[in-house]
Amino acid sequence: MKSRVLVVSSANMDFVQRMAKIPEAGQTIVTDCTYSYIPGGKGANSAVTFARLGADTVFCARVGRDQNGTTLRRIYEKEGIDTRFVVEDPESATGLASIIVEEDGANRIVVYPGANSNVDENEIEEAFTTYPDAVYMQFEIPFEAVRIAANYAYEKNIPLFVDAGPVSDAVSLEQLRRVEILSPNESECEALTGIYPDSIENCLKACIRLCSMVEIKYVVLKLGKRGAFVYDGKYYHIVQGYRVDAVDTTAAGDIFTAALTYAYLKKGDVLEATRFANLAAALSVTREGAYSSIPTLAEVKEFSKQMKSKDR
Ligand code: RIB
Repeated sequence: MKSRVLVVSSANMDFVQRMAKIPEAGQTIVTDCTYSYIPGGKGANSAVTFARLGADTVFCARVGRDQNGTTLRRIYEKEGIDTRFVVEDPESATGLASIIVEEDGANRIVVYPGANSNVDENEIEEAFTTYPDAVYMQFEIPFEAVRIAANYAYEKNIPLFVDAGPVSDAVSLEQLRRVEILSPNESECEALTGIYPDSIENCLKACIRLCSMVEIKYVVLKLGKRGAFVYDGKYYHIVQGYRVDAVDTTAAGDIFTAALTYAYLKKGDVLEATRFANLAAALSVTREGAYSSIPTLAEVKEFSKQMKSKDR
């Protein structure tokens, strides 16, 4: 049976510019850059990942009553996502992310949150009437909304999965009560714990600190090319990543944690789920954009075969 995942999070339109070199402060450059508008937002990227992998996906978010909002809603519907709780905000514009992607695929992102700032208890409470098997969140909506959803999940005994980005001063892990899997990247790990996970010892120290803040079953640190560090409260494992030619790393972390959650809900095996997530994320960085880089289940399976035959 399909798991039903409720994603309570953000939706943005991404304005993406690709360029060889970013300008210095005060500098104007006229260059052969390209630009495009691509659907994004950490929550939406994850919701689409769940849908493309085959989960029954419910999305709770806010968009503006504007062209971008209409476009995004239509796209989510086409992906088969339940959009009844994607609320059209009458007062704020749809969130917009300005993204610069350099030649090596690295990105810089600034988000105007717009309607994402108004996600509130009403739609969250209503979205829980869908009886989800899992609740999935990031920190790209107000932390109060995250806290409310975490509280509902706790009271209804629904496992909570948290992709810890982006971290701001408002984030207080202590208030999440109980987390099944917490998955920060390197900079989010440092912002939450004060420890940069650049060695096994530091990864372990950071995980222990995270587990002292809130009850967590598994911490899965996203370490980019180094793969992932998995901690279960007692033991750790390093799950190697895959070597690919990256063209754009935008949304790789969103896709990783959603794929991890999807596979974990299927079999309950966190290491197998991390391997699957590494595959989905590696495949995504070979493609441009956020929404446009999200793989289907068939594509991840095919990529897995290719990676296995490469190893031989
Ligand atoms: O993680 C990538 C996402 O961050 C982008 O799609 C952008 O919208 C921002 O939310």
